[in-house]
Amino acid sequence: MTIPTRTPQIGQDRVRVDGPLKVTGTAPYAYEQKVENPAYLFPLVSAIALGKVLRMDVRAAEALPGVLKVMTHENAPRLRIKTDPELYILQSAEVQYKGQYIGAVLAESPEVARHAASLVRVDYEQKAHDAHFTPEHPQKVAPKRINGSKPSATQEGDVDAAIAAAPHTLDAVYTTPNEHHNPLEPHPIIAIWHGDAGLSPNAKRLTLHDSNQGPAFTMLLLPPLLGILPTQLEVFSPYVGGSFGTKGSPHSHIVLAALAARMLPGRPVKYNMTRQQMFRTTGFRPESHQRVRLAADAQGHLSAIVHEATAPTARLKQFVEQTATPARMLYAAPNRKTAHFVVPLDIAPATFMRAPGEFTGMFALETAMDELAETCGLDPIEFRIINEPSVDPENGKAWSTRNLVVCLREGAKLFGWKQRQAPGQRSEGEWQYGLGVASTTYPDQHLLNTFARVRFEGGRYKVELQAADIGTGAWTILGQIAADALSVDVNLIDVEIGRSDLPFAMVAGGSMGTYTWGSSIMVAAIKFREKYGLNPPEGAAVRAAGQRPKDFKNYSRHSFGAHFAEVKASRVTGEVRVTRMLGIYAAGKIINPRTANSQLIGGMTMGISAALHEESYLDSRFGHVVNQDFAGYHIAAHADIPDIQARWIEEFDPYFGPTGAKGIGEVGIVSVPAAIGNAIYNATGKRLRDLPFTPGKLLN
Ligand code: MOS
Repeated sequence: MTIPTRTPQIGQDRVRVDGPLKVTGTAPYAYEQKVENPAYLFPLVSAIALGKVLRMDVRAAEALPGVLKVMTHENAPRLRIKTDPELYILQSAEVQYKGQYIGAVLAESPEVARHAASLVRVDYEQKAHDAHFTPEHPQKVAPKRINGSKPSATQEGDVDAAIAAAPHTLDAVYTTPNEHHNPLEPHPIIAIWHGDAGLSPNAKRLTLHDSNQGPAFTMLLLPPLLGILPTQLEVFSPYVGGSFGTKGSPHSHIVLAALAARMLPGRPVKYNMTRQQMFRTTGFRPESHQRVRLAADAQGHLSAIVHEATAPTARLKQFVEQTATPARMLYAAPNRKTAHFVVPLDIAPATFMRAPGEFTGMFALETAMDELAETCGLDPIEFRIINEPSVDPENGKAWSTRNLVVCLREGAKLFGWKQRQAPGQRSEGEWQYGLGVASTTYPDQHLLNTFARVRFEGGRYKVELQAADIGTGAWTILGQIAADALSVDVNLIDVEIGRSDLPFAMVAGGSMGTYTWGSSIMVAAIKFREKYGLNPPEGAAVRAAGQRPKDFKNYSRHSFGAHFAEVKASRVTGEVRVTRMLGIYAAGKIINPRTANSQLIGGMTMGISAALHEESYLDSRFGHVVNQDFAGYHIAAHADIPDIQARWIEEFDPYFGPTGAKGIGEVGIVSVPAAIGNAIYNATGKRLRDLPFTPGKLLN
């Protein structure tokens, strides 16, 4: 079989096929799906961080006109297999974190449900909780594995000896805060339980209208939990108003709605999270404390890299970002050590947030690189280039494609890096200006096979898989890929995604959507043509898994890039503004420059937001986040984002899959705060090592 590589649709600038529906406000998002006679849910949540519910007095709530049911742990349907401790709710009186679901009110209107919930009286037996993260916590442990099933610690050579012998060294601590996902659309859910009558394994038991990054993990985790077969669950998620990673796997509100729906068979149960509730039960990026040690010889060649990261984790469910993994592969150094530690606390479980781990760790590593470059008397770009490894230092594998040096050099030209002056040299009135750079990288995260089906029906080609378009442009680019693979006009193709009854696909997460979905579509399309030729009969269909070269595992596979930032910092107020930003990427084949550009500048936008604004304050006395709204938790708005540009170099990486594409969803956020912090140093001579870079930190 030959797979076409460069053909007309791939690489074309095409507008989003879902654009008109979205800009006219007619795209039916999950909460707008038409259902008959819905009941509205409002959750009951724990007011304590640890202990148990002794009594719940629901009489006043039940007596309120319009209330249909009050669900508590005492009357909630039983769950079966604990596929995920986060999802195993209302099965006992135990409380494991503040804000955990302890029940729900179902009513004829959302207002009545909410008011009734406020009438429920709860007595607790409170235990002393611990929600206070410190890197030296006595219960700090080294997990066996970190996210991605990677080893927790690695060691090569003798870092202590190398550091002791080196003329240039750095030893610094960097911290990042808790951050919460705040897509424009919060988590909506409609759950419909179709009744327990009838035992046919094909009888639908539960329908979910959800907002997710793909139904894969919901389909894997929910049926065993609820005691139904996978064939009895259907999930619809045609339109998704953003995610930031929180919709990559199911959270407990979905189980809450499913249990409630089971108590009201046939009646759709609707729940849409409030903005404040987005800070409670749907995960967050955990804070981190990172120590980085570097050593270099007189010429600036790194002799040692040490990266140790410590973060809190929920006692209920361990979640460990792979924070120190970029330090394993990004630069050459014969002596190398990485380690992860977690502190279990009585807090809500964390989850994936855009570039979980790489974002966190690259802030520290790329700031440290800037610091050591200066110590060595080298330009930070040259310092990175002389430490470019010819093969992946972690495993000795060749790079599938890398081109980091090309990005650094090209970016320097485009951004005007030559004009960069010594720290503190350039100012206008109260504003000091500076330039900063940082490398970025994001790995191939592909774990499970993704499938696609190509069908011919009514003179049109249907391309079907469980993918999701969370605002990325998937709907558009999957049609472009299919058009090339089938050699037909793109207007003859209908992309069918956003449903669970389609071939299994990985989620729109880990930056793997385009290359995994694209691969399965290409293979299915080519097999379809091989089987049916150019004039297929009505109903012709082929389903296939994605493929890539057999030896793909012999290559180290990552996207790369460089971030350049210009900032101005006020001597008077300590305010930092990003004035210009450029991201330049080596991300494989770009399928659609319009949607890719949007992904990449979206990543940079989120990176600027994290650099300057975002921080969730967890009040350890109570165990919950106190700045739980947009007044207390600022997300970059239009006025915060300057002229930012994304560029990429021509690349084609067959080892990610036959589209040649690599991941672009996350490489755009990784290291943005480091580039900005490095620019702040260049502007002011002051080194900031703690995100976010708020005015007080600069003035202190
Ligand atoms: Mo994402 S944080 O890769 O779902």
